[in-house]
Amino acid sequence: MERFVIEGGGVLNGSVSINGSKNSVLPILAAALLIKDKCRIYNVPHLSDVYTMLELLRYYGAKIKEGLALEIDCTDIENKRANDKAASIRASFLLVGALLGRFKRVSMPMPGGCSIGLRPVDLHLKGFCCMGADYSFEQGIITIEYDRLRGNEIYLDFPSVGATENIMLASVLAEGTTIISNCAIEPEIVDLAEFLNSAGADIRGAGSDTIVIKGTDRLHGTDHRVIPDRIEAGTFMLAVAGTGGCCRIENIIPDHIKPIILKLREIDAEVKEEENSVIVSSDGKLPNTDIKTMPYPGFPTDMQAQFMSIMAKGIGTGIVNETVFENRFMHVGELAKMGANITVEGRTAVVKGVEVLKGASVKATDLRAGAGLILSGLCAEGITEIGEIQYIDRGYEKIEEKIRQLGGKIKRVQS
Ligand code: UD1
Repeated sequence: MERFVIEGGGVLNGSVSINGSKNSVLPILAAALLIKDKCRIYNVPHLSDVYTMLELLRYYGAKIKEGLALEIDCTDIENKRANDKAASIRASFLLVGALLGRFKRVSMPMPGGCSIGLRPVDLHLKGFCCMGADYSFEQGIITIEYDRLRGNEIYLDFPSVGATENIMLASVLAEGTTIISNCAIEPEIVDLAEFLNSAGADIRGAGSDTIVIKGTDRLHGTDHRVIPDRIEAGTFMLAVAGTGGCCRIENIIPDHIKPIILKLREIDAEVKEEENSVIVSSDGKLPNTDIKTMPYPGFPTDMQAQFMSIMAKGIGTGIVNETVFENRFMHVGELAKMGANITVEGRTAVVKGVEVLKGASVKATDLRAGAGLILSGLCAEGITEIGEIQYIDRGYEKIEEKIRQLGGKIKRVQS
C-alpha cells in the first residue's frame, strides 16, 4: 500500500507536459480488437487502467509490443469466457462492442470502475438490442448474442459517453447503417471515430449529436496519436490557481478545456491561451463561483472534485451542482477533515470558503476525488497524507513527479 505525503503552503511555478488521454486510449484499445492487422498507437499514457486493458486484450489473444508506440495485432483473437479482471475497470465493457464485431456471442462481467453512482449499462444494451442482439444475465455476467447484427436508428435517452462508444464499436463491422441520436459529443468520441476511420471505417458526424456509421466488411491496420488528456490538463490548471504561482501547461488542445479556462477567468485567475498550451497564473486567493457539471461542452464531471477543492478555500460561498452522476460527493467528507465547510443535499453542495485548510490524514475515494485531495493538500497548511492512491494511479501518470517539477512538496511513501 502506498500513500502521498504532501507539505502544503508553497506556490507552483514552471511548466508541465500533459499525457495522452486515458478516456480516449481505452476505447481505442478496445477498437483494436476489431482489426485483423497491426495498429500503432502513439501518446499512450502509462496508467494502471491502460495496463488492465492491455492485459484483457492479451487474454483474447492480441499480440502487443510496448515501445515509443504501442503495437497491437488482433489478427488471431479467440472468443473466451468472461475474464474476472474485466470487472475491475469500467472501460472493459467497451470490449463488448468490439467483440460483437468479431463474434456472435460475447460474455462480460458487469463493469467496475470508480464508485461514483449506479453506472448502469442499459443504454449500451438498448443499442445492441436495436441492432438485433439479445442479452441475458447470470451470476453477474452479461451475455449478448445475435444471428445478424444490423444497423438501425438508436436514440440515447442520455448522451452517455460509454454507450456512444460501445454502439460505434458494434456497428462498424455490422450490416447496413447505424444512426446514433442524442449521442455524446466529447473529444474522446471524435478521437475514437478518427482512429476507426483511419482503419477504413465509415463514421460521420462524430462531435455532433448524431453519428452515422455505415458498416464495412473489413478494417485494416493504422497509426494513430491519442489526443491529450483534458482532465489531467484541467487538474494542473486548478492546482496552480489554488496554490498561486504561474505555470505553462503544455501539449494540450485548449479548445477541449474551454469550461475550465472560462471558469478560472471568472474567479480572477489569469489564463493565457497558446496554440498547444495555456499559461495559468494566480495569487491563490480566489473568489468563489458556482459550477454545474454537464456533458461536453459543459463543465466536466471529472473536474468537479478538483474545482471543489479550490472552492473550499475560496473567498465567499459557491454552489456545486452535479448533474451527471448521482453519487459524486464522496470527497466532501475527506475535505471536511481538512476544515472545509461544505454541506450536501442531493446533487447540490454548498461550499463556504474557509480562510485556511489544515493538513490531515485523508483517503482517495475515487480517481478524481483523489486528485482533488492532492490539490487541497498543496493548498493546506501543514502535512496531508492521502491513502488509497491506487485510484489516483488509474488516471494520472507520475503525478507526484510532475508536481515536484513545479516546486510542490509531495512524495509517494510505502504505508
Ligand atoms: C465516461 C468517462 C468518465 C466520465 C463520464 C462522464 C471513460 C472511461 N470514462 O464514463 O471519466 O466521468 O464519461 O463524462 O471514458 N448512464 C446510464 N445508462 C447507461 C450508461 C450511462 O444511465 O447505459 C448514465 C450514468 O449512470 C451516468 C451518465 O449516464 O449518470 C453518464 O455516464 P457515461 O457518459 O456513460 O459515463 P461513462 O462512459 O461511464
